[in-house]
Amino acid sequence: MNNPRIIVALDFGSAEDALRLVDKLQPNLCRLKVGKELFTATGPQLIEKLMAKGFDIFLDLKFHDIPNTVANACKAATNLGVWMINVHALGGRKMLMAARNAIPQETTKLIAVTLLTSMDQNDIEDIGLQGKPDQIVERLAQLTKDCALDGVVCSALEANKLRQQMGKEFLLITPGIRPLDGSANDQKRITTPRQAAENGANYLVIGRPITQAKDPLLMCQQLNSEISNLT
Ligand code: C5P
Repeated sequence: MNNPRIIVALDFGSAEDALRLVDKLQPNLCRLKVGKELFTATGPQLIEKLMAKGFDIFLDLKFHDIPNTVANACKAATNLGVWMINVHALGGRKMLMAARNAIPQETTKLIAVTLLTSMDQNDIEDIGLQGKPDQIVERLAQLTKDCALDGVVCSALEANKLRQQMGKEFLLITPGIRPLDGSANDQKRITTPRQAAENGANYLVIGRPITQAKDPLLMCQQLNSEISNLT
């Protein structure tokens, strides 16, 4: 498989735990997501180790700061050689443009988080945002596209509508994926890999169904086969 669509979320607190899992996986079947916990604990050395094993890395640090700081952070992340990085769309147009202009289009993919899925209507009103969560997601996705970023992280349940609105080229990366017989854990709005792919998701972020499987490689193979015939 040349373009694996599964991104395994390495939600671990140490390099040892992360590597124990990664040693069971194969770079032709999945990419890896390193987030704030693991990166803060282990730094760029772990990223280098994971890339040396042949994996593409999504560095999920969700930058959100003044434009100059975000631009420099994006450059530093790109210099690590990772495959994809992200920023918060709520940082606004100037910040998104600064991030876009800081890194060439052809190198690292640059995507945005729209609205955190942990935020409900009350949280949104608390911070003075207007509209329903799905309207805000659409607005922020459009802003992301206007600033020429490559795509957004979104719920697979939002992917269908966003795919129609944003066109074919815009990347949709969806967490909240569970196999049919899987436990939901703390995720509330979940879909199967097949539903996510049918809704137009390009890449699927999957954590515990793979990281806590008895046989993570087999689980990764099974989840891949669910989406292998879908565009
Ligand atoms: O274990 P699980 O499959 O629920 O992990 C999903 C991953 O996707 C976690 O790293 C989580 O932080 C991330 N994520 C999410 N929902 C979002 C954005 C990111 O679950 N809206």
